[in-house]
Amino acid sequence: MPSRVSDDKHGSETEPPYPKPFTIPMKRTVRPLFALVLLLVFVATLTSRAMLRRPLLSIDLETRLVLIHSPPPQLNATLLRHAAIQIGEDKAKQEIQQLLDGNLGSQARHRTFISWRRIIHHDIASAGDRSSSRSTIPATLRSPLFYRYWLDFRKVLNDWARKKRFQPNIMDELIRLVKVPIDKKNGILDGNLRKYSSCAVVGNSGILLKSDYGSLIDSHDAVMRLNNARVNNFESKVGKKTTLSFVNSNILHLCARRVGCYCHPYGAEIPIVMYICQAVHFLDFTVCNASHKAPLLVTDPRFDVLCARIVKYYSLKRFVEETGKRLEEWGSAHDGALFHYSSGMQAVMLALGICEKVSIFGFGKSPSAKHHYHTNQKAELHLHDYEAEYHFYRDLVDRRNNIPFLSDKFILPPVVIYQ
Ligand SMILES: *[C@@H]1O[C@H](CO)[C@@H](O)[C@H](O)[C@H]1NC(C)=O
Ligand SMILES: *[C@@H]1O[C@H](CO)[C@@H](O)[C@H](O)[C@H]1NC(C)=O
Repeated sequence: MPSRVSDDKHGSETEPPYPKPFTIPMKRTVRPLFALVLLLVFVATLTSRAMLRRPLLSIDLETRLVLIHSPPPQLNATLLRHAAIQIGEDKAKQEIQQLLDGNLGSQARHRTFISWRRIIHHDIASAGDRSSSRSTIPATLRSPLFYRYWLDFRKVLNDWARKKRFQPNIMDELIRLVKVPIDKKNGILDGNLRKYSSCAVVGNSGILLKSDYGSLIDSHDAVMRLNNARVNNFESKVGKKTTLSFVNSNILHLCARRVGCYCHPYGAEIPIVMYICQAVHFLDFTVCNASHKAPLLVTDPRFDVLCARIVKYYSLKRFVEETGKRLEEWGSAHDGALFHYSSGMQAVMLALGICEKVSIFGFGKSPSAKHHYHTNQKAELHLHDYEAEYHFYRDLVDRRNNIPFLSDKFILPPVVIYQ
């Protein structure tokens, strides 16, 4: 194409605006130009830094532009490597294999199993058809209903265990895995993978009692609540709308056995998303799932692995920076095998995947506030590192390219923290 060639020629006669000056020999006449280019690069860097510091509320399209031009994340390779190690992993695998083999292994699991059998039979009794014969049902695996649940349990557990690996692209599947089933339940069947236009994730911290965020929370397109926290009598502080309830499997495990709660911590109509703390809790899931009108969803194990790595990275980082100890000592300081992200952290991660904007309420603590707004619980659980998780939330707001393990393609929605 002749015109192009002549264009090129023409171009080479004018002053090259971009890196070329770096390669041509430094003649006296070129120096001012070189200095100018350096100055331009410097100004451009400052500008993009300044843009990064802008308040995030106003960002929409801009976020994408800034992310493309921002410097590569400053992540520490040693920390990344350590964060990828799951200390309890071998033991967990062994436990799953035992369960699949029908070997309950420990007293605690045996108790779970026995009580599970009881709630199944309670289920039959409450259905009204066999209440009189309840006590005569033999406590044995040969009960056909029991056996069916047992097969379901093994299948669900097996599928889950096989999927468990590190795969950060799982963030892009959360709409399909979580929002679509909830939309279906709400009669929205357009098959559209749209996100919620805005989400409020409501933690349970006592700091909620200091403000009246209730109507602000309810004004979000979707409201996520945690671990079955009560809203009655707290509406002005925490709102009353619940789009989905995010729980750990202990909540369902306990609720399944409590009269009046029976598998439905928020009532049968509220969708539940639950992460599995112990493989044996799939027993509760299989039984409870059958009686749920709204979706009862288990978090994808690839999503669990991603959350675990991110929190461990922040926890390791905090540990070496604040104690000055070696990374290898983190495990004994944090109960390595039991260490876990909190429900709140995973709920925030879920919101990042299924919402266009995320507002965080009731996370964080203050000396003057209760631990939970709705209980008198004092101590924090030792198996979580809430401080590390706060660092993560803060990075979501203002150091957004510093978050480890997310895939490059994933676009973080803007996040606002209400204290
Ligand atoms: C990464 O973290 C480790 C452990 O804290 C530290 O020893 C190392 O110096 C850090 N590396 C860099 C490049 O900052
Ligand atoms: C849970 O129940 C729903 C509705 O009955 C069903 O579609 C789904 O497959 C069940 N989930 C599992 C993992 O068994």
